[in-house]
Amino acid sequence: MPNSGRWSGDNVHSMYETLLVQLEALIGPETDWLANLANTAALIYHTLPDLNWAGFYLRKGDELVLGPFQGKPACVRIPWGKGVCGTAAVKQESIVVPDVHLFAGHIACDPASCAEIVVPIEHAGSIWGVLDLDSPFKGRFSSLDQAYLEKLVGILHRHVDWRVACQLPTTEGMGSLGKTLVEKMRL
Ligand code: SME
Repeated sequence: MPNSGRWSGDNVHSMYETLLVQLEALIGPETDWLANLANTAALIYHTLPDLNWAGFYLRKGDELVLGPFQGKPACVRIPWGKGVCGTAAVKQESIVVPDVHLFAGHIACDPASCAEIVVPIEHAGSIWGVLDLDSPFKGRFSSLDQAYLEKLVGILHRHVDWRVACQLPTTEGMGSLGKTLVEKMRL
């Protein structure tokens, strides 16, 4: 599909700045992780142009499991290290894919997707999942998208309890042995 050209230039900065302000207003007063991730996915999907999917995969053991999203139904479980999502999680770095057909191991959930960006959710020394955006336009995502989406994930840390979202038992009140055992449950 040809580039719609709506994601370059100064307007991208102002679009993201507005999005981040809206995000703080939307999820700031709320503490429920599910509500906050659901609203974040909806805000991204309906604010950024030329997306066909936006959402989260959350780490459950040795898999990434589908979380709140907007777009068509998607694959539910991604093995750790597989696909763009699993690769970004393992490498602990964002991945911008200009053409998904050229990414070895890309997992196709929607044949319309041509470009993808995945930002890992890293907090307090652990990877809790990823933020994943797809577009039907090749080359849709730039380093500017990456910088702003990483900033967005940084905001989420203040409003999402990742341990609860990833269904890990809390270690509060546990001794060091208990804490070590819970950490071992991660992978
Ligand atoms: N394409 C992803 C799978 C998730 S969907 O894009 C929603 C991947 O390769 O990990």
